[in-house]
Amino acid sequence: MKLSVQNAFVKYKNKKNNTLEDVSLDFSSGEFVAVMGPSGSGKSTLLACMSGILKPHHGKVIWNDKSIYELKDKELSQIHGKEISYVSQSNIFLKEYTINENILLPYNIDIRNKEWLEKAKSILEKFRINQLGNNYPEQLSGGELKRASIARAILMSPKVIIADEPTTGLDKETAGIILDYLDKLAQKEKIVIIATHDENVKKYCNNVYNIEKGKVIRKTYHER
Ligand SMILES: Nc1ncnc2c1ncn2[C@@H]1O[C@H](COP(=O)(O)OP(=O)(O)OP(=O)(O)O)[C@@H](O)[C@H]1O
Ligand SMILES: [Mg+2]
Repeated sequence: MKLSVQNAFVKYKNKKNNTLEDVSLDFSSGEFVAVMGPSGSGKSTLLACMSGILKPHHGKVIWNDKSIYELKDKELSQIHGKEISYVSQSNIFLKEYTINENILLPYNIDIRNKEWLEKAKSILEKFRINQLGNNYPEQLSGGELKRASIARAILMSPKVIIADEPTTGLDKETAGIILDYLDKLAQKEKIVIIATHDENVKKYCNNVYNIEKGKVIRKTYHER
């Protein structure tokens, strides 16, 4: 399995400079990757491009020989969440639905479907929040919501998990639960890509890419 970003450029309309400038990266099975860099350097933009939710203005994103932004909407929606899953920097939940329901809804699964509810429960258990499945988002803390949003992203066992700042603002223990879980996914030959400001996260990663002003300025290899 291979995910590649090829010569990606992004320029937002209201910005003078390019937000991503000629970024090319390759990822393969079993890799745990961190993208680091100052606030505003383009990390979230890069992750959104790789996730299939933001088409770069030039360049391509190739997933297993398919150029994803050249696919039909229907084909791309088959990839979203099922093959490539994305966890945004902010926790996005529908407030009138429970956590269990929020986990199933993006996949058009009936919220009364027992089998899937069980599956959701077992994932929440791994994140030690299984008692919160029937609660509403506003009843959860930031760290609990973050774990729930990662649980939602992995429901379909995607091959690529892209998480934007999955541990920001969390205590060490909660961050550890998340990173250990992502690490297990990488060991199961998934591709795990995160953006982070947290230097402690490096030890989990094979490769750390530093970006500044939309350009990759350094790639560091780490033994995990
Ligand atoms: N939708 C948008 N429209 C216009 N400009 C945007 C948009 N999203 C991001 N930007 C701009 O692009 C630049 C890069 O933003 P991005 O969110 O990718 O940075 P980041 O590295 O993730 O920052 P942080 O560490 O603060 O999350 C910033 O200058 C930001 O203001
Ligand atoms: Mg960001």
